[in-house]
Amino acid sequence: MSKYSEMYSGKLILAPMVRIGTLPMRLLALENGADLVYTEELIDWKLLRSFRRENPALGTVDFVDRSDGTVIFRTCEKERGRVILQIGTSNPDRAFQVARLIENDVAGIDINMGCPKEFSVKGGMGVALLSKVDNAKAILKKLVSSIRRPITCKIRVFQDEEKTLQLCKDFESCGIAAIAVHGRTKDERPQHSNRNDLLKKISQLLTIPVIANGGSREIETYDDILKFRKATGCSSVMVARSAEWNASVFRKRGKLPLDTMIRSYLKLAIDYDNSPSNTKYCIQNMLRELQESELGKKFLETQTLGQMSELWDLGDYYREVSAKLDKSGLIGRRDVVP
Ligand code: FNR
Repeated sequence: MSKYSEMYSGKLILAPMVRIGTLPMRLLALENGADLVYTEELIDWKLLRSFRRENPALGTVDFVDRSDGTVIFRTCEKERGRVILQIGTSNPDRAFQVARLIENDVAGIDINMGCPKEFSVKGGMGVALLSKVDNAKAILKKLVSSIRRPITCKIRVFQDEEKTLQLCKDFESCGIAAIAVHGRTKDERPQHSNRNDLLKKISQLLTIPVIANGGSREIETYDDILKFRKATGCSSVMVARSAEWNASVFRKRGKLPLDTMIRSYLKLAIDYDNSPSNTKYCIQNMLRELQESELGKKFLETQTLGQMSELWDLGDYYREVSAKLDKSGLIGRRDVVP
């Protein structure tokens, strides 16, 4: 097996998730046992509008939107060698330009070929690429031949098993390092069952690692991840929703209480000056129905990291880190009331 493919073999992986897969959540998953973490999908033209900036106060590398100064992608040493950037694209040249811009700051590059949302499909991205296989292959080949990082893609399955197997073979022949497969079709939703048997057939057919995805309905704990791996016969497992709700699902020694996870998440958000709106969104998705609780209701009223910190007894921690960041001259502190 090639060195690039080995990187994806026998791994537990945080799935790409829009707005969820920002730096604090990726670090939380790594701290809790994930081996690799995918970024949220980043659209090619958005990344092409950004410039790279080192941020010594935070110890991060930021890709900053030229038009409004927002940080599109932030990464740091702790995830070096383990972070995979997922690109939304429909064009080999744009994909290449993005990959060039970012290749030294990520461990691998993935192409989203599974998103069924209208925004993606209309632009020829996501699952639309599975009905334009020649274009999808052109994107993969271009990146494989010119980028010094492993290239992968994440797909959904077709109703037709043979067609799915042929597609996987076709993509493998482009030289990709691994393939992540969500065992549902583009029209199926989380309540439909995941086609684990088909994932097994794909893993038997290909020589590159197949990353099984779509199992969250049956994944509550680390042991369930192993069961899903066994049921699909795949080398690696990629988890989305179960990890979004509690990233310690990756933890061998058992899941940690939600409160502990929210505290750890919030500390990371403070350490890396994550935007209050993104932090709030991620915590809301961890709290879920607990948003109705007394604490949940108070949380919904917060607007800044400072206010959120008080609710989880992290007020002192927040002030300490803030003072350090202010002293270091960090530009564009993000914890301001909008
Ligand atoms: C997703 N999914 C997704 N997929 C992808 O390729 N790129 C993305 O940016 C996103 N964004 C995203 C956001 C959120 C909030 C969710 C819940 C899901 C799909 C995801 O990676 C995965 O394929 C499915 O959720 C199925 O896996 P689970 O949830 O059963 O583990």
